[in-house]
Amino acid sequence: MSEKNQIYQCSVCGQIIEILEPGKGQLVCCGLNMNLLKEKNQDEGMEKHVPVLNRNENGWQIQVGTLPHPMEETHYIKWIELISIDGVYRIYLKPGDMPAGDFQINTENIKVRIYCNVHGLWQS
Ligand SMILES: [Fe+2]
Repeated sequence: MSEKNQIYQCSVCGQIIEILEPGKGQLVCCGLNMNLLKEKNQDEGMEKHVPVLNRNENGWQIQVGTLPHPMEETHYIKWIELISIDGVYRIYLKPGDMPAGDFQINTENIKVRIYCNVHGLWQS
């Protein structure tokens, strides 16, 4: 059974989905069960992925990693997602962008996840 806000990926085509409403059915894509992506929260190695959260007067400024993550054609942060009690907010990034995003969300209790096209899903 799935849970709200879980993220699944197809190992064949790379399709990624997020659960809006949990259900009992098995999630299948390209003829195979989809894989639940588990959020990592401990950086290891040279590249940093764990989101850094900075509160300001407008909301939240999120930076990917204590050192800026690469934003190259073959390796970059695809999106930053902020989950609060009232909603899910997402900023999509592309190669060449800054690995950061501003969310004008004035709530304190948040969870932030980011997705690296090479290293997967991370959370603060
Ligand atoms: Fe990465």
